[in-house]
Amino acid sequence: MATPAKPVPPLLEKTSQSARLFEEAAQCIPGGITANIKHFDPYPLFMESASGARMRDVDGNEYIDYNLCYGALMLGHGHPGVRRAVAEQWETMGSFVFGAPHALEAEMARKLIDLYPGIELIRFTNSGLEATMLAVRLARGWTEKRKIAKFEGHYHGGYDPMLINVQSRNRKRGERPRPVVDSRGVLDEYQDQTVVLPFNDWEASLEILEEEKNDLAGVILEPVQGGFIPPDPVFLRSLREWTNKQEIPLIFDEVKTGFRLGLSGAQGRYGITPDLTTLGKVLGGGFPVGAVGGRRAILETASPVHRGDVLSGNENQTHSRDVLFHSGTYNGHPTVLAAGLATISHLEYEGVFAKVEEATRLLRNGMEEILARWGCSGSTLGDGTIFNVMLSEQPVQNGTKRDAAYPCLRRELDIHLLERGIYIKPMNRFSLSTAHTPDVVAETLDRFEEGVKRLTGKE
Ligand SMILES: Cc1ncc(COP(=O)(O)O)c(C=O)c1O
Repeated sequence: MATPAKPVPPLLEKTSQSARLFEEAAQCIPGGITANIKHFDPYPLFMESASGARMRDVDGNEYIDYNLCYGALMLGHGHPGVRRAVAEQWETMGSFVFGAPHALEAEMARKLIDLYPGIELIRFTNSGLEATMLAVRLARGWTEKRKIAKFEGHYHGGYDPMLINVQSRNRKRGERPRPVVDSRGVLDEYQDQTVVLPFNDWEASLEILEEEKNDLAGVILEPVQGGFIPPDPVFLRSLREWTNKQEIPLIFDEVKTGFRLGLSGAQGRYGITPDLTTLGKVLGGGFPVGAVGGRRAILETASPVHRGDVLSGNENQTHSRDVLFHSGTYNGHPTVLAAGLATISHLEYEGVFAKVEEATRLLRNGMEEILARWGCSGSTLGDGTIFNVMLSEQPVQNGTKRDAAYPCLRRELDIHLLERGIYIKPMNRFSLSTAHTPDVVAETLDRFEEGVKRLTGKE
């Protein structure tokens, strides 16, 4: 006789230590979290340790991790090659950071120039946010124009000019997206400097772009919206052709897609070369990082050589506005670059990246099959090693509410999955790593099926 499955305790019952730590943290940290994205109801889970594809929370519950620090950990947690590289950097260099140039900077720069078709020169930053901020400044400096076009529903980091239309809003058919500030504390003035476009809708985007083109310094987008809504190929090609013709820099924000849609990111995958590229997440191998690369002529505007800039105190300085200022105490941090280089070189071994893609396919197919078997309308959407579960009967084009892509069922499913040891940030995308082997995927699918059965009341 088959043994009946053990009942799974609800999340609140099994995570009392997380609840306690959350309460304590909320006494001294607003909302108990250091990045708003880490919050979810009833409280975020506090983690204690991790290895490979798995994380353990402070109550001793183990999870298969599909958040992977929002996609950053392409080799999973604590990869030995990355550990070795960091330890070696500390040993051989004798310091954590010099505050002066060192060889790893050019080594990483050459690597990225080799891999990314759109990168001829590169600068490093400490986060994806700083990278897109610099990219926007470069575009404005290069064109000497004012406005930036961004797409509705695209995230480029939590700073003032980009906290506009991060959220997709319901619109009537044919209605244009209107710039709307998405955070308290952000001046309405930023709306006037921003042009908002609908993703994957070339006809509507073109109409707006044509009207605004004389003021446009650049167009920035996530080539794959939210990391999981792929671009329509005609849309992306048309955008590239139009921006080329108008000589308006096109910025691919590849913070999510870099090293996740292949080693050359979305630009390699779709064969479209932007003028500027921003990277982050996987590039740091688990440490804070960002980078902006692009056309030589545009990047050269940041070079202070023979000119001086605002902080150089150089008497021969022409004028501070001749040089595009970019700086940062920790830019090009040796530990971060050592970890990043170790990550990339592991991914470059033959077959390594393909295996993660194969595991992703296996997981997506399995999930779709389970959803269908238990009568739950839904599918998965994504490309490369990132995807999302869409509990919707309608195809998703750009994530507006019109697509009806996020019914509350999904949130409920996510809680059932957390209870069963699958870690995702509720409503967020799934990312895989080299540690997500076929065995791990099979285990995930068993737990996923239990979660779906619970969701559909067929447990
Ligand atoms: C596309 C994109 N751009 C920029 C950022 C900001 O990066 P960071 O969180 O490292 O500042 C993110 C972060 O998720 C992102 O997904």
